[in-house]
Amino acid sequence: MSNYELNDFDYEKHWNNAYLKSPIQNLGWYEENPSATISLIEKCNLPKDALLFNAGAGATSLIEYLLNDGYSNIIVNDIASAALTELKNTLTNHHNTKLEFIVDDLVNPKELTKLKNIDLWIDRAVLHFFTDDSEQKKYFDLLKKVLKPNGYVILAEFNLEGAKKCSGLDVCNYSVEMFQERLGDDFKLIKSFDFTYIQPSGNPREFVYSLFQRML
Ligand SMILES: C[S@@+](CC[C@H](N)C(=O)[O-])C[C@H]1O[C@@H](n2cnc3c(N)ncnc32)[C@H](O)[C@@H]1O
Repeated sequence: MSNYELNDFDYEKHWNNAYLKSPIQNLGWYEENPSATISLIEKCNLPKDALLFNAGAGATSLIEYLLNDGYSNIIVNDIASAALTELKNTLTNHHNTKLEFIVDDLVNPKELTKLKNIDLWIDRAVLHFFTDDSEQKKYFDLLKKVLKPNGYVILAEFNLEGAKKCSGLDVCNYSVEMFQERLGDDFKLIKSFDFTYIQPSGNPREFVYSLFQRML
């Protein structure tokens, strides 16, 4: 059964607890240097005022990196308010930046449906938690609704050889072909690669990273 179909399970609470119970540096998805994502962002060659959307950002160090690199228009989302509180605590000295935080559910979106003209959608280790077809459809419907024509999408999820669970939850493992199928023919693959992420515990986690561009 799908994670998000288990109605008696409170996912918001699950993720809030994950961020409340341990320092972010100990989380099984913490990256001190999100270099794989950064390499794909650089490939987009976007202006610094492009509108970037980080889906399920958690307390990622990517936001600090983007701000330091001069990006000035970033929307940060997560289902867990505790994650975004943690993230805010890590960000200092960025007063002139347009940084928006949206606590909302990617597969049951409310605030997120109001977004538009996103230049770049970034997802690392979020989509793979949506194990049911209808959740995946809702996720991609939202993505396609808010992404600009010619906008870019970065998807980085556990690959087909990768772990079957994360944070105690089942995951859906991905290949580039599966991303393409979900995105549809309007999206062109720009680059993809496999990447082994090493958790703080020392265990490897196999990801597939991809960058697509919407062609209309
Ligand atoms: C494995 S963590 C990855 C966090 C971040 N992307 C990173 O790379 O560090 C998964 C994140 O997805 C968030 N998340 C899970 N389900 C979500 C949903 N339905 N809507 C929005 N965020 C969600 C969790 O709260 C968590 O922060």
